[in-house]
Amino acid sequence: MARNIKIAVMPGDGIGPEIVNQAIKVLNAIGKKYDTNFEYKEVLMGGAAIDATGTPLPKETVDACLESDAVLLGAVGGPKWDNLPGNQRPEAGLLGIRKELGVFANLRPAVLFPQLKSASNLKPEVLGDGLDIMIVRELIGGLYFGEKKRVTLENGEEKAWDTMVYQTSEIERIARVSFDIARKRNKKLTLVDKSNVLESSRLWKEVVYKIAEEYTDVELNQMYVDNVAMQLIRWPKQFDVMVTENTFGDIISDEASMLTGSLGNLPSASLGDGKIGLYEPIHGSAPDIAGQDIANPIGTIMSAAMMLRYSFDMDDAADEIESAISKVLDKGYRTADIMQEGMTKVGCEKIGDLIASEI
Ligand code: IPM
Ligand code: MG
Repeated sequence: MARNIKIAVMPGDGIGPEIVNQAIKVLNAIGKKYDTNFEYKEVLMGGAAIDATGTPLPKETVDACLESDAVLLGAVGGPKWDNLPGNQRPEAGLLGIRKELGVFANLRPAVLFPQLKSASNLKPEVLGDGLDIMIVRELIGGLYFGEKKRVTLENGEEKAWDTMVYQTSEIERIARVSFDIARKRNKKLTLVDKSNVLESSRLWKEVVYKIAEEYTDVELNQMYVDNVAMQLIRWPKQFDVMVTENTFGDIISDEASMLTGSLGNLPSASLGDGKIGLYEPIHGSAPDIAGQDIANPIGTIMSAAMMLRYSFDMDDAADEIESAISKVLDKGYRTADIMQEGMTKVGCEKIGDLIASEI
């Protein structure tokens, strides 16, 4: 009998619906081939949820996610909702669902498809035979979730603050995930922090080095985040697995994505202790190009591949998606963001069809 898998789908805003549709196409092709029935339940989150229900993360959405086997998400946000108070913005829905699912470990692999070498901003000699970095971003703590407040002072000035706060157990668990990943790769882990200035970073450093004693086979080094921002451009090959605080991870993963040619290429998997993973591309909702069928769905399709790998132990199917993407690139098809001379420019729908047809 076919295996049944329940996926909660949050298309979200902007280009979200277009890119998620392509991932579903590809999953359906996989389902046919691997005798698996993917059962999708579409739920509202972000701006779409605000418009329909008045809140970015309705309770029905949370319930549907908790009843699913995994969650697939497009992107959220847009200028339409930019003036709402912080806790009512579309992004609050995204942070809320990450928290509800307890997905503290956000895996963001930056892998360069060899076919896209010339789409990268780096010189070919810096990229060499490719690039394969895994950024592990802590996802439900730190600056994003610490106390934040805004007050009006007596002199009429506004004052606002956010707090970067972590406790030992939160750092321990993300450190273990990172060491485990490093162990399965090249046994190299870089801790990215700002321990020359921030107390929370000093705690991170202490805790991560303590956990390192359990992983003597993994080589650990530490680097300040400003230096990392520079080193990623200078010599990205020095990195293998990187682990870092929520905000630092947000920033350096966008940076790393450009090394692979486009922000549109990068997938992510968010995992916790529970069994429900959240899968989403690392980019935003790109409202400027929404609805024009020009978005790049590769990051979302690769996120679906990560879902198969991490949530459902379907490694062969995940490999197959990655090689389907590779074949389509080999044949010269490109979306606008990764377009190069001599290639064939195609839209979001079309590249989704092409990838699905390789399966
Ligand atoms: C990301 C995004 C989100 C984040 C935004 C949309 C809230 O930039 O997933 O990297 O900052 O986490
Ligand atoms: Mg980001």
